[in-house]
Amino acid sequence: MIKINENYLKLQASYLFSDIAKRVAAFQKENPDREVIRLGIGDVTRALPKACIDAFQKGVLEMADEATFRGYGPEQGYGFLREKIAAGDFQSRGADISPDEIFVSDGAKCDTGNIQEIFSNTIRIAIPDPVYPVYLDTNVMAGRTGVYQEGRFEGITYLDSTRENGFVPALPQGPVDLIYLCFPNNPTGATITKAQLKTWVDYARQERALILFDAAYEAFIRDENLPKSIYEIEGAREVAIEFRSFSKTAGFTGARCAFTVVPKSLMAFDEKGNAHALHGLWNRRHTTKFNGVSYPVQRSAEAVYSEEGKTQVRELSDYYLKNAHLIRKEMSGMGYEVTGGENSPYIWIDGKTDSWAFFDQLLKEAGVVCTPGAGFGKCGQGYIRVSAFNSYDNVVRAMERIRSALK
Ligand code: MLT
Repeated sequence: MIKINENYLKLQASYLFSDIAKRVAAFQKENPDREVIRLGIGDVTRALPKACIDAFQKGVLEMADEATFRGYGPEQGYGFLREKIAAGDFQSRGADISPDEIFVSDGAKCDTGNIQEIFSNTIRIAIPDPVYPVYLDTNVMAGRTGVYQEGRFEGITYLDSTRENGFVPALPQGPVDLIYLCFPNNPTGATITKAQLKTWVDYARQERALILFDAAYEAFIRDENLPKSIYEIEGAREVAIEFRSFSKTAGFTGARCAFTVVPKSLMAFDEKGNAHALHGLWNRRHTTKFNGVSYPVQRSAEAVYSEEGKTQVRELSDYYLKNAHLIRKEMSGMGYEVTGGENSPYIWIDGKTDSWAFFDQLLKEAGVVCTPGAGFGKCGQGYIRVSAFNSYDNVVRAMERIRSALK
């Protein structure tokens, strides 16, 4: 008899963003004449930068000619892209990362979800609350948690991110082995200083723990003093894996390209206490389960590092940041307490009421989709997340509609 992985039964009924999409679809079915403005899931709306499109098209033409055609590429990504990433994103900021420590993939969602496979099922995990649901759900699927009770899974150390701590959690009270951190944060839009990040790196070194650092939103950092990479912090090469994405940076949500950095100096231990390089383990997993990102997409991603690419990508994030600033200004003008939106495309708003009730009110009365904070964890209750990924005109209209719905 075929049997299921019962860990799946512990999960919430559906993935947060699928749940929201279903609610919005139901609303649209009932109200076919109402136009809905989507500021929910962080999906980009602007076209790919011209430099990326030109490189993409050139790559496609190469595939059309037998002389330049490419079949399977290296699973870890083409050297031309890995070299640009190492130099452009890390070495230029004093972070000692080499091209062969970079694994190109089809998304940071997949990588942050898959990485847990290379760790023992007995490790103790610390996860922020609120949190991007993928970190938690993939550990639930793997059987690293107990049951779900009162908004939390047994067996997880939750790191509360609240107004009181500026949405940067304190170090865990008890011992943990694996720590998920995301800055600029999804969902709160909060950022972390170098000094704060150093306390995490020092903690991980002392505890022989590992930090999974999701930096998918680093392109939105405008404050020069904030770290874009955890490897800007001394000692991080020994204790951190970093995830990056071209999705929000360069508008690649539909093109799919991201990367994960696994320094060769990272070690983890077997049951007998012998050390093993995580680079080798991840390489083994990646080469077994993944066949690489398509050649034209990698050429397109490479163009992000050209002079014109850099300018265009900056314009793209500036555009969304202008939206974010408007959302911040309007929502605080209406008397709401807001976080994020300055070095981040997400604005975290204290709705002073139940998250899902506020979500429903904005959908029904203003025709605006946001994301209920409670969907990101218990500490998200009472908040909503508004995304800046839409056209400026739509953001202006969404704010007008919200203002008139809430007055
Ligand atoms: C979000 O809205 O949190 C993100 O778009 C989800 C994702 O990147 O997978």
